[in-house]
Amino acid sequence: MIPFEPPEGYDAQLAQRICYLNGHWGPLAEAYVPVLDRGFLFGDGIYEVVPAYGRRPFEEEAHLDRLERSLAALDLHPGKTRAEWRALIQELIDRHPWEDQFVYLQVSRGVVAKRDHAAPELTTGRPAHCTVWAMSSPLSRPSDAQRSEGLRGLTMPDLRWQRCDIKSIALLGNTMARGAAVAAGADEAILLRDGHLTEGAASNIWVVIDGVLCAPPKSGLLLEGIRLGLMERLARSSGLGFERRPISEAELRAASEILMTSATKEVLPICHLDGQPVGSGRPGPVFESLRIAYDAAIEAHREHHEQTNALFAFPCDFPIKVMGAKRDGFAEGLCDAIRDLTAGHPAQVAEVRESAGGKYQSATLSVRAMSKAQLDAIYHRLTGHPWVKLVL
Ligand code: PDD
Repeated sequence: MIPFEPPEGYDAQLAQRICYLNGHWGPLAEAYVPVLDRGFLFGDGIYEVVPAYGRRPFEEEAHLDRLERSLAALDLHPGKTRAEWRALIQELIDRHPWEDQFVYLQVSRGVVAKRDHAAPELTTGRPAHCTVWAMSSPLSRPSDAQRSEGLRGLTMPDLRWQRCDIKSIALLGNTMARGAAVAAGADEAILLRDGHLTEGAASNIWVVIDGVLCAPPKSGLLLEGIRLGLMERLARSSGLGFERRPISEAELRAASEILMTSATKEVLPICHLDGQPVGSGRPGPVFESLRIAYDAAIEAHREHHEQTNALFAFPCDFPIKVMGAKRDGFAEGLCDAIRDLTAGHPAQVAEVRESAGGKYQSATLSVRAMSKAQLDAIYHRLTGHPWVKLVL
């Protein structure tokens, strides 16, 4: 009754592709989830899509921040530390031949003995055993035609719920909208709620108003795409104005440019909306600037990893110099702040110095570096730490 052979629709290559399921590695064709999994029954789970260029995840810490936010929102506890998520992502990439990939991670609440809307931990007191599944696929970057011709958008009412900020696997509102757009010959659905733009079916949507790049404000009505933060940085570095603010349907229709962003589409222009040209009907100058900046960020990411891989033979002892206002326990506190990232080898304080005026101090921490990804994570954590002014 149960077919333990490649399901229909898997070609031989896909069937053989290695994926991760609950601590095991094996071919996709052999990865099965029980039908009583709450992901299957209720869509009770979350996911992430992390692009990788040059065999290294791009904007990984921001993706992991969002993964943790989604897990917390659903009170899911798959029992993985941040370091373990990073290691899982890197292992998926390492197990595949492609230079550019995208990693798909999914966590559902796991198997239940009885179909009950309330989660089992509430009804039985027993903790759920989450199902964790992940695979990687080759990433086809946007084509020249997509970049130069642009895509077609179709507006439609946003029929979804009010927690679209959770990257939930329950995506009926999104799949129906994208399906309706594709059936009508468009590429993406552009969703409107109460007369305002929310986002695309599987992308964030941007509008250029008076030369300023605008995106709707952060709220439960849209997913906080990782490219929202990235595009803000790229816009600033390209000298473009950037604003998060409500965008009315009239403003959407009058926009000189409309852009879409996602992990796999990067940034692309939408040159037709409901069959009408957007602006000139060709990709505009804001898109061109951001496209150049996005490509440059990807190239910098590749080079950075090539260089560090050539420079360091991991594992190695790596000094990190951190500066901040003088306070007691500065160096020790920072070692603590990165403890989960230095599992098994806590960072050591190599040197502490005070500035001439005694207001500032610097600390050199010695870290046992295991990988480039781990070092990036440590830098990211330290740079964002409230005590820290500068990390070298
Ligand atoms: N989707 N909004 C929605 C509804 C999305 O599904 C996505 C991405 C985004 C963009 O987020 P990011 O920049 O982090 O990719 C916004 C992914 C790629 C997907 O579901 O496949």
